[in-house]
Amino acid sequence: MKTLLTSRMLGNRSGKRLLGMGTAVLLGALAAGCDSGDKKGLTVGFSQIGSESGWRAAETKLARQGAEAKGITLKFSDAQQRQENQIKAVRSFIAQGVDAILLAPVVSSGWDEVLGEAKAANIPVILLDRQIDTPNVDLYLTAVTSDTIEEGRVAGRWLAGKVQGRDCRIVEIQGTVGASLVANRKKGFEEAIATAPNLHLVRTQSGEFTRAKGKEVMEGFLKAEAPGSICAVYSHNDDMMIGAIQAIKEAGLKPGTDILTVSIDGVPDIFKAMADGDANATVELAPDMAPRAYDILLAYRKDHAPPPKWVQTPSKLYEPDTAAAEYARRKDLY
Ligand code: AHR
Repeated sequence: MKTLLTSRMLGNRSGKRLLGMGTAVLLGALAAGCDSGDKKGLTVGFSQIGSESGWRAAETKLARQGAEAKGITLKFSDAQQRQENQIKAVRSFIAQGVDAILLAPVVSSGWDEVLGEAKAANIPVILLDRQIDTPNVDLYLTAVTSDTIEEGRVAGRWLAGKVQGRDCRIVEIQGTVGASLVANRKKGFEEAIATAPNLHLVRTQSGEFTRAKGKEVMEGFLKAEAPGSICAVYSHNDDMMIGAIQAIKEAGLKPGTDILTVSIDGVPDIFKAMADGDANATVELAPDMAPRAYDILLAYRKDHAPPPKWVQTPSKLYEPDTAAAEYARRKDLY
């Protein structure tokens, strides 16, 4: 409980001056929402990348629901895929004196200056679902993300097991260029297929994590490769795979049979596609990054012990055997 000093308690002119300064600081802090003591509830700013995928929409939904459940006031900003919008949003959150900032960084570089400003204002920043490149990890409190290299490995291992020694030409649809996880998902996948000399990654291109682009990229691959020669498609997210599945069907082929599919996220539509026999596997990315971040933040404000620099979420592989049940379980959650 705070002790409020009175001028009588201080009892002299310098005491009165001190009181005046203290009151100003206190009022300023209250106006800025910095000294909540968590009793009035926290105010958290969330700079979200956009809404390019079903997974991202789910992350946003759970961020809102989680905030409401914990009595947190969430200030939400959609950057529409642009880092400059995210930088503006972070500056605006700082100016509003939020208690903490969640940042899902669209690209990995170029954050030091604005995160330095948050640090100077004593506002903890938690990274969600993507990491940043910085020599100064003190700029953020923690990062809640999956092991994005491992996600690629899980997908690659699954494919190696599935094709079992037969020659397989693979095409890859990458996510947004410059995002930390894109290089990692590629790296992990390549590492895993390097152990199987029958697997060959023959083409790779960005589909920017969207269905429309994923379809366009797959159409290009199908035109560029000899008919019937693509054995599998690896997509950095499920939405691009849904687009690719459409392109495969329009080319007169059967996705999931003529061309194997493995992607990442675990959104309801990929489970539906698996249940329908159009897709083969997905590696789940947990969408509840923000609720995890709220728990970390509340614990940090209570005990002041810094959390680990990286809080890892699981990367579980799903196949068609559980797809119908998973679809039923997830379709309203997302
Ligand atoms: O950063 C997570 C990735 O961003 C998801 O895999 C993708 O769907 C999203 O847009």
